[in-house]
Order: sequence, then C-alpha cells, then structure tokens
Amino acid sequence: MPHNAAATGTAALSANFANLRVDGPRLWSSLMETAAFGRTLKGGLCRLALSPEDAAVRRWFVEACESSGCTVTIDQLGNIFARRAGSDPDLPPIAIGSHLDTQPTGGRFDGILGVLAGLEVLRTLEHAGVVTRHPLEVVNWTNEEGARFAPAMLCAGVFAGAFDLDYALSREDKNGVTLARALAESGFDGTAPVGGRPLAAHFELHIEQGPVLEAEGREIGVVSGVQGIRWFDVEISGLACHAGTMPMKLRRDALQAAARLAVAVDEIGCSDPDTSLSTIGIFEAYPGSRNTVPETIRMSVDLRHPRAEGLDRLEAAFHAAAEQIAAALKVMIEIKPVWSSPPVVFDPRVVDAIAAATEALGYSRRSIVSGAGHDSVYISRVAPTGMIFVPCENGISHNEAENIMPIEAERGANVLLQAVLQFDSAT
Ligand code: HGY
Ligand code: MN
Ligand code: MN
Repeated sequence: MPHNAAATGTAALSANFANLRVDGPRLWSSLMETAAFGRTLKGGLCRLALSPEDAAVRRWFVEACESSGCTVTIDQLGNIFARRAGSDPDLPPIAIGSHLDTQPTGGRFDGILGVLAGLEVLRTLEHAGVVTRHPLEVVNWTNEEGARFAPAMLCAGVFAGAFDLDYALSREDKNGVTLARALAESGFDGTAPVGGRPLAAHFELHIEQGPVLEAEGREIGVVSGVQGIRWFDVEISGLACHAGTMPMKLRRDALQAAARLAVAVDEIGCSDPDTSLSTIGIFEAYPGSRNTVPETIRMSVDLRHPRAEGLDRLEAAFHAAAEQIAAALKVMIEIKPVWSSPPVVFDPRVVDAIAAATEALGYSRRSIVSGAGHDSVYISRVAPTGMIFVPCENGISHNEAENIMPIEAERGANVLLQAVLQFDSAT
C-alpha cells in the first residue's frame, strides 16, 4: 500500500488513495504545449523518430520529469526512463510507457497521451506526497511508429529481446540515415544498456485509434491483447518502354501488375469480415515519367489478424495472388518479409487492476483487442503488461485531425493512476 511520506516517514499508512485524482487541466496543458514540437499546418504533428522535432520534445520531457523530482536515464537506443523512487528500492520498477514519435501526418495524442499521462501520475503523487512501494518509471520508447525506421516498436523490441541492438542501430530511413547516426545527431545516444533488467509491470494509456469505444459510448477500453501484424516490401520488375510505340499486348507493365496486386491485397483484407485487415501505405513507380511504362514498382503491404492462423491464411493468399499476376503479366514479383509481430494476450493481473480501477472510478468500460501495435506488445514478453484505451473522435488516427476531449485524457490518466496504485499495493 503506498504511503503518505509527509505524514509518516517510513510507516505505511492504511490511508486510502482511491480519491486521488490527476490534475486534468495540467495534463491537457502539457499535451497542448508539446503539440508545438513538429506542428503541421493542419494542426497535426510530424515528429519522426529522432528528428530535430522529436529531440525538442524529448528535451522538454526530460526537463519536466527532472523538475518533478525524477532521475532520468537514457539507454543506448534513446529510450528515456524517468524514475521516481519508491519506499522499497529493492523492488523492480512499475513502468508507465508509450512514445513521443509520430507518423509523418500524425495526431497530437497517439503515444503522447500515454507518456504525458505518466508524467501527470508522477506530478500527482509528488503533489500529494504519496510514495509508492515500487519505484515508478515513465518511459518514452524510441521509434514506436516505424514510420522512419522499420519495423515499428523497434526499441521496445530490443529492450524485450525481440531484436538485437546492432540490428536496431543499423536500420536506415529512406535517406540512408542509420538509427545510430540519428541517435547521435539528436543527442539521445545514451549509454545505459538496453533491457536486461526486471520491470514489475508495464502500463500504457493510449487512444483507441478506432471507432469502437465512441460508437458504443464507452469511456474506457480495458485492452485484453493486441492483434498480429506482418509487414512486407514488394518489388515488381517489368520492362520500361516507350508509351507511344510499344503495343499493349507486348508490354510487361510493372504498374499494371501492381494495380492488380493492390486489388487482390484489398480482397484479402476483406476476406474475414471484421477481423482481417490489409493496407498498402507505400506505392512508388520508377522511373516515374509520364511517357515511360514503369520498369519497377515498390510497395508496402501490412496484414493484420487477431489470430496467427488467420495471418498465415492472409499471407498464403497474398503470395498466391502475386504468383498468378506475375505469370499473367510476365513480370517479376519479389516479396520480402520486413516484420512479424505475433498476436499477444496481456497479463490478467494488470488487466484486472485496470478493470478494477475503472470500476472504482465509475467509468463505463468494455474489453477490447487492440488493432494497432504498441510498445506494450514487446514489453509484455518481459513484464506483466496491460493497456488502457480512451476513445478518439470518429476513430480517426494516423491523421492530423486526430482528436480527443480533455475529459477523455483525464479519465484515462485517472485509470492509469489508480491502476498503478492498486498494482503497487497488491504485489
Ligand atoms: O503500426 C502500428 O499499429 C503502430 O501504430 N505502430
Ligand atoms: Mn501509438
Ligand atoms: Mn501510431
């Protein structure tokens, strides 16, 4: 049970902290203040991992945590850990993590809500003079989005042992800049080892990024797990030729093959209504001249499904479609696997703490599986992990119009605070 250091020094008070609440306006003002780093003309964010904009918000975050009494550690991948001491230093920390990097046309809340709500929890405890038994660590995980360096959730993945450090450091963005160089240029190339230490638990507050909670009028999503994700790079090679001289029937048109494959990928995504998903986010034609039949198409494919066997089925159908199109249009289609994130189920102890906190706070809730990947996916491999969702307007995310109401941020942060306090006193 946490205790009130101001009143008792070391003795654990049985005082009930169920009435402790975050300062909603303070959380909202932090969200709006940090939305200035990387703001786009449409009011969203472009804050790619370890970009100058990301470095700026990271410096803001470090300064805010230090002025809230935390000690800040940065590891070799720029993961930032803001630690608040607990009454029992021998206990492993309870982590509260998410990410500050964004998509190129991202919103102001994806990831950021979770990190700043963690800071708000620390500020609330500091202000109330409450010391938890476990140390607390608010974490900013580097490169969650995978928009600059593929794959996504990369640095939480290294912390959890899913990828090795050198693999992560060697990943390149589309300009050939390695993550190692971006870390050095950002000033967040820390020295602490990545991972290899215990966490008592990992909590993550996040916007749902989909329409379910809003459609059902539910205030909180108690996340039971995350669906599986597989990423592929596809290269289609045909024959570049003159747009005015090569008869249609003699062409080996890479773009026409890509168009057929795009339709097939869409049909595959629709094959398991309400569960399977497919997305082509990158689609580039080379040489990209209006009077030259394209020689090469490079495209990305993202497949998702809540079950591994469902992902296997989607992937098999994708390969079969590519084979059939390649033969019919006499082109080469190369499919390169980039990333595979298996479906995960979160730890019932953490999920129950979140459900109990939501119940105690009187918020409506439903259990939900996350469609989006999160740092918690990998951290769940090394620590009891759970997530809290709040609704977002029209379910829109990875879009500059992404929006939530201040009360939704406040509710999510209150659940985070109370769930962490419950878990702290119960373990
Ligand atoms: O890809 C995802 O689901 C996450 O936004 N990185
Ligand atoms: Mn996110
Ligand atoms: Mn995202």
